[in-house]
Amino acid sequence: GTTVRYEAENAAITQGVVESNHAGYSGTGFVNYDSAVGSRVQWTVTAPTAGTAALRFRYANGTTVNRPMDITVNGTLVADEFAFTGTGAWTTWQTRTLTVTLPAGTSTIRAAATTANGGPNVDYLEVQR
Ligand code: GCU
Repeated sequence: GTTVRYEAENAAITQGVVESNHAGYSGTGFVNYDSAVGSRVQWTVTAPTAGTAALRFRYANGTTVNRPMDITVNGTLVADEFAFTGTGAWTTWQTRTLTVTLPAGTSTIRAAATTANGGPNVDYLEVQR
């Protein structure tokens, strides 16, 4: 298969900022979600053919409180309040994977915070096909 990495700092960010003050991220930084419901990152990804894909989100959550996010693909909710639990430190990055079906061509993948704490710090999305 193939894996394509899409850095969060290069995606469309709504209610969040790119930061680089916690080591261990890929690329040039990560997204610090604003502490608000609806703060979000939206990636545009491409798949040459339709089929199953694993979405792999890399994140850090230095708190002990879950930072769930709704994951949507082309506007359809595919994971309701997908959990991003504490990783132990803001410099400890972990991944969570979700399997979806993508159509051929361009898709938008959105990760939107569902609590007033906002999302975790998000490093990247990988699409594994
Ligand atoms: C701290 C941390 C940030 C993080 C924030 C949060 O301020 O330095 O990187 O985003 O907590 O709770 O979301």
